[in-house]
Amino acid sequence: MTSNERVIELEGVIKRYRNGDEIIEALKGVDFSADHGEMVTVIGPSGSGKSTLLNIIGLLDTPTEGSVRHHGKEVSVFTEDKLTEERRSSIGFVFQSFHLLPMLTATENVELPSMWDTSVDRHDRAIELLSRVGLSDRLDHTPDRLSGGQKQRVAIARALINQPDIVLADEPTGNLDQDTGRTILEELTRLKDEENVAIVAVTHDNQMLEFTDRVVRIVDGEVRDRKT
Ligand SMILES: Nc1ncnc2c1ncn2[C@@H]1O[C@H](COP(=O)(O)OP(=O)(O)OP(=O)(O)O)[C@@H](O)[C@H]1O
Ligand SMILES: [Mg+2]
Repeated sequence: MTSNERVIELEGVIKRYRNGDEIIEALKGVDFSADHGEMVTVIGPSGSGKSTLLNIIGLLDTPTEGSVRHHGKEVSVFTEDKLTEERRSSIGFVFQSFHLLPMLTATENVELPSMWDTSVDRHDRAIELLSRVGLSDRLDHTPDRLSGGQKQRVAIARALINQPDIVLADEPTGNLDQDTGRTILEELTRLKDEENVAIVAVTHDNQMLEFTDRVVRIVDGEVRDRKT
């Protein structure tokens, strides 16, 4: 990888959904990019296309038209196996509702995305990541014994287990009170700097704007303005 390659680059991305006879254009020609160590926050009204954009960046969905590049490589030519591999090795996901498995401990939840990896240090890295988000005393707790903020910190540790260079977060503070949300944003931005990852976060939470490097506003499937 050369240094002038963007981690993520989208050009002219159009996404159409068919609903019976009706066609919904959720994204109408979106250009977007993010660099290593950069946090980009996507804002916009409900239904404007934010989650659609995140899913396309995260290779969970494909655009109808336009180009999506990860590290300068066009992903539309990837095979299913290559897409799965790219998702697993270079993307971490953080969701509003945490998505932790209830029967697993914090450590096991963090290890889960790397279970396919036979390297021996997976367990140690899970413990290290949990310690870095302040949960070294909660390693063996199952999610029902953790607070909302603690669950989200487990989810952030889990997103980082495979050493991704992209972390995608859809409303990461959406289920948290303001103070807990703030702590989560502090953790995310600190880890972003330490791991040099690109973070793309969708939010309605105005306090996230204090932490972000760049804001992209989407209205009705179009990027309306960018603030730096
Ligand atoms: N699988 C789908 N099938 C049909 N239409 C869809 C599908 N997913 C999203 N849409 C439509 O695409 C548009 C954009 O949806 P999207 O979920 O990206 O919005 P959003 O900005 O994330 O909204 P919110 O803030 O409410 O989460 C909406 O009109 C939505 O109804
Ligand atoms: Mg959404």
